[in-house]
Amino acid sequence: MKRRKKIMTTIFIVIALTVITWIALTIVVQQMGPEKLATVGKNDDYNALVIYDPDPIYNLDEKVSIAFAEGLSESRWKSKIATVAAAKKIEESFDLYVFCANTYNWAPDKAIRNYIKNSTDLEGQRVVAITLGSGSTKRSQRMLEALITQKKATLIDSKTFWLMKPNDESKTKRSNRKIALEMANNFGKEIADRIRNEKNEVLSKDSGF
Ligand SMILES: Cc1cc2nc3c(=O)[nH]c(=O)nc-3n(C[C@H](O)[C@H](O)[C@H](O)COP(=O)(O)O)c2cc1C
Repeated sequence: MKRRKKIMTTIFIVIALTVITWIALTIVVQQMGPEKLATVGKNDDYNALVIYDPDPIYNLDEKVSIAFAEGLSESRWKSKIATVAAAKKIEESFDLYVFCANTYNWAPDKAIRNYIKNSTDLEGQRVVAITLGSGSTKRSQRMLEALITQKKATLIDSKTFWLMKPNDESKTKRSNRKIALEMANNFGKEIADRIRNEKNEVLSKDSGF
């Protein structure tokens, strides 16, 4: 009987410590990161604002944001890559807004959620959503998309990239993080092409061809 009580106490302590550690970790990672602003691309035929809130562990979000902007830059785009703290001070408008959110406990990070909720200039704007996580991002992606559409923005695409779960099942031997960056870069190129084609179609319609 005494042994059984000891086992139960040990199990309770382990569960309690795990929950406390998880809550503490959640509080740490949900703290808004510092102001940081970078520019990618020399030509500014089009301008994009890529917004993320840095994760203190591996910072995949910053790397993915840069990779996406580098993809855009191949089609003469200039991008500002801003943390939420830096983006709050930007007043210009852009041809494209990209939100790159980390997933914490099946939801997009708080800083990105609050930024979108408090935005007053997203209506009618083109927006791309990128949801990051270790591998369980479905609910978080849906929440990010809903926040964007609630602002009456035009969600032109939404993708997820993972830290742990294979981003490409056919390339499990290569670094999953590198694959995520390559995919984000290609995603940037694809979006740039799509917007250029859209604009060309509008121009040819306007000129009657
Ligand atoms: C407290 C905590 C909760 C997390 N919850 C999730 C989750 O629900 N789903 C998921 O896919 N990843 C989850 N992750 C993983 C993070 O989303 C992932 O580490 C982050 O997106 C990538 O940031 P990093 O590259 O800087 O680590 C969690 C991480 C922490 C620390």
